[in-house]
Amino acid sequence: MQTLVITLGPQDSWEDEKMRSKIKIAAEVLRKGGLVAFPTETVYGLGANALDSKAVKKIFEVKVRPADNPLIVHIASKAEVYKLASEVPKEAEELMDAFWPGPLTLILKKSEIVPSTTTGGLDTVAIRMPAHKIALTLIEESKVPVAAPSANLSGKPSPTSGEHVIRDLYGKIDVIIDAGETQIGLESTVLDLTVDPPTILRPGGITPEDLERLLGEVQVHPAVEGRKVKTIVKSPGMKYRHYAPNADVIVVEGNTEKVNEKIRELITKYKREGKKIGVMVTDMRQRYGADVTKIIGNDFETIARNLFKTLREFDEEDVDIIIAEGIESVGLGLAIMNRLKRASYKIIKA
Ligand code: TXA
Ligand code: MG
Repeated sequence: MQTLVITLGPQDSWEDEKMRSKIKIAAEVLRKGGLVAFPTETVYGLGANALDSKAVKKIFEVKVRPADNPLIVHIASKAEVYKLASEVPKEAEELMDAFWPGPLTLILKKSEIVPSTTTGGLDTVAIRMPAHKIALTLIEESKVPVAAPSANLSGKPSPTSGEHVIRDLYGKIDVIIDAGETQIGLESTVLDLTVDPPTILRPGGITPEDLERLLGEVQVHPAVEGRKVKTIVKSPGMKYRHYAPNADVIVVEGNTEKVNEKIRELITKYKREGKKIGVMVTDMRQRYGADVTKIIGNDFETIARNLFKTLREFDEEDVDIIIAEGIESVGLGLAIMNRLKRASYKIIKA
């Protein structure tokens, strides 16, 4: 398939009319049932008309995504929520006012217009209004709600730049809008409002602390922290290994000194086995002597922005093992650790 790549400059230099005319081309493709990858503030999304079952099916095919893993429906105006959801509780309205546009996805009871292909057969629908000018303009111009998972091949790290999307999907979809790197770097928080108390199914840019301030009690689904759960998995996305680079990822968590010691031990062990080792550190002063060392940042925002990119970079270096220092699971740290654990095949408590 021919893929059209539309390149747009950094946000502050986007001239309204010029940008809009380019985006209109992509919007027309969406309206006609095609697939368009576009930037959001979190990660790039792979969009299709959410109300067109045939178009949505193509997303699943292209990504090689299991059909029971539902998609998030992206909108550009709050009024759309009342069409897509059959019930909109008061808390949903408060959350929309406080956090939209932004990295918060709300799970509500779905209305009849949403095809079950989009919701993976569930009777609920995930809805979000992204905080990105290109995304909002695209949705507005397409005049349809846009179903969009992250624009990566299933199981790979989510794409945080146009280049990542091109690598995964060029030749497989109609249009890629490339607008450089995304700002947050981790996917949105998914909050289930069909249960009491509201439950975080996936942590993200809006933290549990942010939500508690507005809602009072908020639950974090046990699967989020990587605990083994026997109960039915609420968000089908939770049961699949995710975000994984080719190398095996080992996360080491605990207090700094013990973590350092454990990582050294692991490096010695794997070196003896002839493995090429990468380490992902928060602080360059910590020298482990691995084959490849990548610093992902010292504060949560920077780490979030760099995480997926760094995992992909390790793949380019062909390392066999990636050893990552764990961080504290509070605030945005919860989302970072969630992605790291889901990318990993082993979590070690030092
Ligand atoms: O930031 C984001 O959310 C990005 C950008 C593109 O908006 N999108 C994204 O989509 O991360 P995706 O498909 O990679 O992740 C959607 C998550 C999955 O874990 C899925 O299982 C969950 O949301 N989800 C979607 N609909 C759901 C529903 N009705 N009930 C429970 N979980 C749902
Ligand atoms: Mg995804």
